Amino acid sequence: MNTILVGAQWGDEGKGKIIDVLTEEAAWIVRPAGGNNAGHTVEVGSERFVLHLLPSGILHPGKKCVIGNGVVLDPAGLVGELEGVTSRGIDVAGRFFISDRAHVVCPYHKRLDGRVEAALKKQGGAIGTTMRGIGPTYSDKAARTGIRMCDLMSADFPELLKARVEAKNRELEALGGETFDYEEVLSSMSAAAEKLRPFVCDTVPLLFEAAQRGEPILFEGAQGVMLDLDFGTYPFVTSSSAAAGGACTGSGVAPNCIDRVVGVVKAYTTRVGEGPFPTELFDADGEKLREAGREYGATTGRPRRCGWFDAVVARWTRMLCGVDEWALTKLDVLDGFDEIKVCTAYELDGRRIDYFPLEPALEKCRPVYEYLPGFDGDITGCRRFAELPGAAQAYVKYLEDAVNCHIRYISVGADREQYIDMDR
Ligand code: GDP
Ligand code: IMO
Ligand code: MG
Repeated sequence: MNTILVGAQWGDEGKGKIIDVLTEEAAWIVRPAGGNNAGHTVEVGSERFVLHLLPSGILHPGKKCVIGNGVVLDPAGLVGELEGVTSRGIDVAGRFFISDRAHVVCPYHKRLDGRVEAALKKQGGAIGTTMRGIGPTYSDKAARTGIRMCDLMSADFPELLKARVEAKNRELEALGGETFDYEEVLSSMSAAAEKLRPFVCDTVPLLFEAAQRGEPILFEGAQGVMLDLDFGTYPFVTSSSAAAGGACTGSGVAPNCIDRVVGVVKAYTTRVGEGPFPTELFDADGEKLREAGREYGATTGRPRRCGWFDAVVARWTRMLCGVDEWALTKLDVLDGFDEIKVCTAYELDGRRIDYFPLEPALEKCRPVYEYLPGFDGDITGCRRFAELPGAAQAYVKYLEDAVNCHIRYISVGADREQYIDMDR
């Protein structure tokens, strides 16, 4: 069974945790999109891993992991991450592969990210990016001036880089940024490149043959559908295809190999960075969600904006990705609320709408809430649905109806073991 896992909100839904659970039944775990703007957390007993570029499957011995062509890869960042996991006893030899078509995040991309954000801020329209150079790298890819992993590995790399650094220095100067010394960039990038060389290959035939042999492939979505370049809250989005389609274009695995799409949703909603967020809370409930859910960015440490569950968003995601099953995470965080709200529709100019509209209508939308009774008590030890308090069960069933699709997994804590599989 080949499964695409997507984040169904604005990222940080708990994808890392669910990937870790689903990895048990996979042979290959593929990251098809995004870069080290992602931060996927996996907790195993007292150990906590935050993965940015490495597929979360790397934590399971023997599972094969691939960084696909759709990813933008910061070589120094990845080297640091590899050193981090190997120092914690994880052996990646022979089971980690990087697509030679993946685009490379260069130091100038990161600086440009900062300069472009500063310029947008002056006009009042900053995106609130992670400053990892994601937008500038994907821009170069689309403009056909990017550097790919195969280029980084080639003998012609110094010459190619020289031309790029010169061009980017001109851009940086125009934006009032500091320029780069070509020799310094070359030496730091070449050092990282040598450490990555053993892993770089054409991953397309690898995955094709794995699929032919029937070895299950799990696609680890990054970000969330509402941050998708095409379907998210543009321009407050990332620069990649976070929706399910991105798994195929970002790996070279054909759509007819996909058997299942799992959408991950939090039992409430969060968002980091700027942009519309209809159910955002600015009151004590929002604060309570942030503290109970430890809602601080895994990549940047920024406090996440918090709000109630938005069924309009989940239905939009289901339509775009063909979600077959949901994984509902962080249900335990709702413990202790007297009342839980669910946004079931929006009110726009006095009319009720149940679809996700485009800007500028979205700005005018007000959430229409249903009120459900809250629950009290620690649910982190529950492993069967029947063990949940009645009001927690009712909340899950309500959501299942509201999003019109089976909730298969219910996560009740950060640890690997803390979840309920409704089909088991
Ligand atoms: P991702 O980017 O989608 O992988 O999510 P992040 O790792 O950025 O953020 C999710 C956070 O919630 C992490 O700190 C996880 O350890 C944690 N987490 C995941 N599932 C649960 C859960 O069911 N309950 C609680 N309390 N924490 C969870
Ligand atoms: P994971 O995979 C949450 C957000 C940033 C910003 C916007 C653009 O951990 O869910 P970028 O640096 O990509 O140009 O920033 O996208 N963003 C994320 N928010 N989780 C993520 O990844 C994110 N990746 C990017 O905060 O609003
Ligand atoms: Mg995250």
